[in-house]
Amino acid sequence: MGDLSLIILAAGQGKRMKSEDSKVIHRVCGKEMINHVLDAAVKAGCVNATVVVGHRREQVIRAVGEKAAIAVQEEQLGTGHAVMQAAAELERGENVLILSGDTPLITAETLQSAIVKHIEGNYGATVITARVPDPTGYGRIVRSGGEVEKIVEQKDATDEEKLIDEVNSGMYCFNSALLKNALSKITADNAQGEYYLTDVFEILKNEGVRIGAFEAKNYHEILGVNDRVQLSEAEKLMRARINRGHMLGGVTLIDPDSTYIGPDVEIGMDTVIYPGTILEGRTTVADNVIIGQNCRLVNASIARGVDIWTSTIIDSSVDEGAHVGPYAYIRPGSAVGKDCKVGDFVELKKATIGDGTKISHLTYIGDADVGAGCNFGCGTVVVNYDGKNKYRTVIGDHAFIGCNSNLVSPVTINDGAYVAAGSTITDDVPSDTLAIARARQVIKENWKDRRDDG
Ligand code: UD1
Ligand code: CA
Repeated sequence: MGDLSLIILAAGQGKRMKSEDSKVIHRVCGKEMINHVLDAAVKAGCVNATVVVGHRREQVIRAVGEKAAIAVQEEQLGTGHAVMQAAAELERGENVLILSGDTPLITAETLQSAIVKHIEGNYGATVITARVPDPTGYGRIVRSGGEVEKIVEQKDATDEEKLIDEVNSGMYCFNSALLKNALSKITADNAQGEYYLTDVFEILKNEGVRIGAFEAKNYHEILGVNDRVQLSEAEKLMRARINRGHMLGGVTLIDPDSTYIGPDVEIGMDTVIYPGTILEGRTTVADNVIIGQNCRLVNASIARGVDIWTSTIIDSSVDEGAHVGPYAYIRPGSAVGKDCKVGDFVELKKATIGDGTKISHLTYIGDADVGAGCNFGCGTVVVNYDGKNKYRTVIGDHAFIGCNSNLVSPVTINDGAYVAAGSTITDDVPSDTLAIARARQVIKENWKDRRDDG
């Protein structure tokens, strides 16, 4: 299977989505449909890949990144025409897998089984099919004597053909050379005036080529997304599949119907996730973590034994045993050390926090390196921005920052230093000293009487 090529069709506009964007960049469980398909095919063993782009191509190219070569279909003249634009891919391997960018639920396992059937059965073309409760809109698999005869599109089907509930998934394996030859023979002589890829089946059949069909066990896997109702159905099915996998892997989801976990998220055993939580991107969560209600984690890395309540963590890490929230906002580039506390209404940005440091409430720390064992009083602000530039602040180990202090960056608070409550610190504070940077308190005697007397 080493030389299996891959072509994914993604040039269409997807009119039924009613969207300014390319259909295939719409997301299912946080990941673009095109990337669901591409990742499944790569996992199934495809080595080379070409994505055929057209409508809003820049969006599709950005989503795919370095993972595939690009072929452009200037005018969307049909799926057969689209494959022809990727003719170079047909030269690369003996067999080619052809997929659509709008079937996000397909799994690597099903693709692999279909590929194995195609190769071991020595077929020239193999179509992945499924029996569906409502075949409306799909191409129908017309068989005679059990063998695939042809594929008929909904709009070209006779009333009798419309009753067939075995449909074309839009996913196929072909012998590349046979496909290339058959594509040169298709015409646009059909209800939609398009060059249908599906027409190659009848052509190949008539040429005596062996045609295979691989029926997917679960029709959910082949569901195509053409509109936003189907998008939400795909989302729901994918969510159930992902969540089931985590639960079987030892994660407690208190309410899986309201827990939103992306396909590339990893979660350890005995972690408990409360409702309303969203885990996105490359988030990794270790064992024995509690993620409370309504959290959002994006590309976060959470170590063992952490608990997080109603908080947002983006592109940041939290080390073992730390407590986060409720209502903490940890922005990109932050790293929270072991056993820290990042409490309510604390915002971190590009901040590293040493082990055991407590930032319990109402504090902003941006662009700063904070040591271990520090304590921040309520209402500390690292004043990192002067309106033009941002500066870094350094705080040593075991520093004590009193309530309602401003640390005007760039500034260094050395190990063991104390900052008196209400200070605005603009100069470095040496180790083990106390800095008081506020006006001394003044008492006006008999103030009330003097005021009342005018
Ligand atoms: C297609 C199949 C149908 C199958 C269904 C499965 C054909 C003719 N029909 O129908 O048999 O049951 O998929 O979901 O192939 N595309 C291009 N260029 C084009 C046209 C389409 O790249 O000129 C791409 C689209 O972006 C999409 C894919 O091909 O990703 C399928 O196109 P779509 O219009 O959704 O085809 P269906 O009508 O769903
Ligand atoms: Ca489709």
